[in-house]
Amino acid sequence: MKRLNKLNSIKKGIKMTRPAIKTIQNLESAFAGELIAHIKYRYFAKLARAAGDEETAKIFEATADQEILHAFGHLNLLYPANSKWKYLLRNI
Ligand SMILES: [Fe+2]
Repeated sequence: MKRLNKLNSIKKGIKMTRPAIKTIQNLESAFAGELIAHIKYRYFAKLARAAGDEETAKIFEATADQEILHAFGHLNLLYPANSKWKYLLRNI
């Protein structure tokens, strides 16, 4: 969280307000949720395939791919395209 506060403060050149901090926290949580969902769908695809259900496995894999797109959407908000690369690389 500390690095996110710093990121946002630098981007905006101002001190973050409580609602802004909460929004960043919510975006980070949502991002993590998308990643968890992605892994779960991949795992369920593996189980379906092992059980011989290829059609279901493919559906789980397609759904897993969508979760990655959702995660990218959150990242677009957390790290806008106009962010300075130097700063982003320091916070990975
Ligand atoms: Fe999602």
